[in-house]
Amino acid sequence: MELWTLVCLGLLPQVVLSINTRLTEVLHWTLVDYVFGSPQERQAALDSGRFVPQNNLALGVERWGDKLFITVPRFKSGVWSTLNYIKLDDKLADIKNSTSPPLIPYPNLEANTLGGEAKAWPPKLTSVVRVRADACDRLWVMDSAVIENNKQLGPPKLMVYDLKSDSLLFSYSLKDKEYNEKSLFPSITVDVTSANCDHAHVYLPDVYNYNLVVYSLQTNETHLVTHNYFHFDPLSGDFSSGKFHWQWQDGIFNLALSPVDREGYRLVYFHALASTMEFVVASKHLQNSSMMSSDSAAQDFSAFKVLGNRGMGGQSSAEFLDEETGVLFFTLVTKNAVGCWNSFKGDEYEDKSIGIIAQDEETMVFPNDLKVDKKGNLWVISSPLPEFFFGNLNPENVNFRVFMSPVRLAIKGTVCDEM
Ligand SMILES: *[C@@H]1O[C@H](CO)[C@@H](O)[C@H](O)[C@H]1NC(C)=O
Ligand SMILES: *[C@@H]1O[C@H](CO)[C@@H](O)[C@H](O)[C@H]1NC(C)=O
Ligand SMILES: *[C@@H]1O[C@H](CO)[C@@H](O)[C@H](O)[C@H]1NC(C)=O
Repeated sequence: MELWTLVCLGLLPQVVLSINTRLTEVLHWTLVDYVFGSPQERQAALDSGRFVPQNNLALGVERWGDKLFITVPRFKSGVWSTLNYIKLDDKLADIKNSTSPPLIPYPNLEANTLGGEAKAWPPKLTSVVRVRADACDRLWVMDSAVIENNKQLGPPKLMVYDLKSDSLLFSYSLKDKEYNEKSLFPSITVDVTSANCDHAHVYLPDVYNYNLVVYSLQTNETHLVTHNYFHFDPLSGDFSSGKFHWQWQDGIFNLALSPVDREGYRLVYFHALASTMEFVVASKHLQNSSMMSSDSAAQDFSAFKVLGNRGMGGQSSAEFLDEETGVLFFTLVTKNAVGCWNSFKGDEYEDKSIGIIAQDEETMVFPNDLKVDKKGNLWVISSPLPEFFFGNLNPENVNFRVFMSPVRLAIKGTVCDEM
């Protein structure tokens, strides 16, 4: 039998898997660093403890134009700046010059510097987990407002920037009943088309309260959606990575959107982190605040459907659907892999129609975020979250990696390839 067949059959469980010919590593860092005004400024930041390199975990990624955004949530103290970017040129040449470029605070350092949050105008970015650039050249930022030791600095808020002028368009704070001291909003999904920019909806999962907050730009209002499918699965709560073993109770974590239908609605795919199940609901249901309000008899729980099961080891954090090919990409955090499923093919969502586009037990430990940019490139970032949470990052290791590949190359030869 071929080695690959044995691996598939699980007959070679000890083999260190490295199947990554489809994604190209374009950036890597041992520890992330930032652009400082001068070496003295950097030294002062280190001396004062405002910058502790080992406490900066690069986690979220998004590409817009000549910028690659990299987020660094304030999970520990000493995060110099939570929302950042590096500059790309058309041929990604800057990436080639330097594979470990320092991060640049976005929109500037001031917005990322803690202190005086309550009165600050414009509001400060306190802790950003993931961001999303939409089809209307806006950057949507979910600021969880929770910093180290679960300290809450005001309500979680949306911050929306005009990417063409790098100016803040507006911010919107969640209402009291939409969050509590347990809340964490790990991702942000923006439902909009370039033909109707004022008609945006934003889906904000709360991973520890098993809720979804839905924001409508038209009404500039939010409402809360609850459903049992937003909870974690106790049978899928055990995780391990390297020498670490732990349990998580993380519920609804990330959502992905199908192309729009004739009525302008989409299918919304979603999953909990501590689960191997994928679910789907029509955006029409999520957007209708009266249909979803918890005190309404009109509530239609049956609108939520089971899509399928990724099977053993199928726990996933980020997901993203490429509208061009219909391929749903997702991180497989316990497999150190990126998976795919082609939503256009009509296949069931199950083991045999799910492909692995990349898997590597060294370079892809904890794939944390992925996006497809406007040009059809898939971006993936990996960083050793378990080591960071349960121990400390090893400054001798390459800890962070960014991979990139055109979608069509990424799915070539897999079960997700087009017909
Ligand atoms: C990258 O290389 C090009 C061509 O060699 C050069 O013009 C440019 O300044 C370099 N960029 C950086 C950031 O070093
Ligand atoms: C939405 O409301 C907030 C106040 O809650 C305001 O600051 C913001 O400008 C509004 N945004 C829009 C798009 O009207
Ligand atoms: C929202 O849901 C309510 C209750 O089911 C329904 O009466 C109403 O027509 C819906 N609105 C839209 C815009 O679909």
